[in-house]
Amino acid sequence: MKRTKVCTMLGISQPILQAGLPWISNPELVAAVSNAGGLGILHPTAGIEPGGDVIANMQANIRRVQRITHNPFGVALYLPHPQIQEIIAAGVQEGMKIAITYGGSPALYTGMLKEHDNIVMHQVVTVRHARGAEAQGVDIVIAEGFEGGGLRGPDKVSTMVLVPQIAGSVTIPVVASGGIVDSRGYVSALALGAQGIQMGSRFAASAECISHQNYKEAIVAAIDSGTTIVGGDRWPTRVLRNGMALKMKESGLLGEGDDLEAWEAELGMAQVRVAMMDGDLNAGIAYTGAGAGLISEILTVPEIFKELVDGAQSLTRSLV
Ligand SMILES: Cc1cc2nc3c(=O)[nH]c(=O)nc-3n(C[C@H](O)[C@H](O)[C@H](O)COP(=O)(O)O)c2cc1C
Repeated sequence: MKRTKVCTMLGISQPILQAGLPWISNPELVAAVSNAGGLGILHPTAGIEPGGDVIANMQANIRRVQRITHNPFGVALYLPHPQIQEIIAAGVQEGMKIAITYGGSPALYTGMLKEHDNIVMHQVVTVRHARGAEAQGVDIVIAEGFEGGGLRGPDKVSTMVLVPQIAGSVTIPVVASGGIVDSRGYVSALALGAQGIQMGSRFAASAECISHQNYKEAIVAAIDSGTTIVGGDRWPTRVLRNGMALKMKESGLLGEGDDLEAWEAELGMAQVRVAMMDGDLNAGIAYTGAGAGLISEILTVPEIFKELVDGAQSLTRSLV
């Protein structure tokens, strides 16, 4: 596949990003993706014990990634985090050069990050958000379609229609995200106008990820209808269709009008940890994209890259 502008800007050889996933974007996963030629993205909470010090955890994780890869990697920044300023300051001090911001306005910290020589990528769910991000100086937008795992946009627009509309509305490069798990999705995303892809669920089920084996096996076992949406219309969140998800839907938790704190309390980090780290899939919530139905094996990161890159090449040849 030809190198895209995203490759040039990020200094990577394949425009394949691993989403920064809370709890589970551990240094070994991040380094494996970066060593394979893509961009691994660390999450400050990776591997942290409940109640642990997120700053110290992130610093240790960044140092570990730097020891096991010399390639570029990113750090995911959840903008509403109460310690976001300290997280950014600590990241900068540790040599963070690529920041992925999400969950809040890019007006807040894009300028500060760029002053510290960071490439800034921002996750968006609408054309309006993408244009706003570009106006704030963001370098690359990540277009998040409704198929993806975790919190989704309230307008529920699919990757298939979101990516070309965003690509046609901004001049900065677009990375497609949501429902992409294999070379077919990769090629499709490029055809839709993206200059790269970001995958979360696929890497959550990889051998190098510290997520619990039960969670990985549940992703592999999921069928096409294996995920569902909880969180109502205000905070639609895609999760595995387990007992807890169905109970939440029945009880109508998080109906219209609930605020971010309510979402965090009901569907946020603690519940997710129970399923994804402790492996209790009955008691916890497991963020997972609808592409889980296409994931049939727990593979290593190099195996996933081989399928993506070789598959994309032969697919492209067969299409022309
Ligand atoms: C395990 C997991 C945790 C996630 N956590 C969050 C999150 O806390 N906030 C958020 O905005 N997106 C979250 N996401 C979404 C990812 O950033 C990314 O958009 C998504 O994984 C892409 O879709 P895919 O899962 O189909 O690859 C999560 C996804 C997964 C799989």
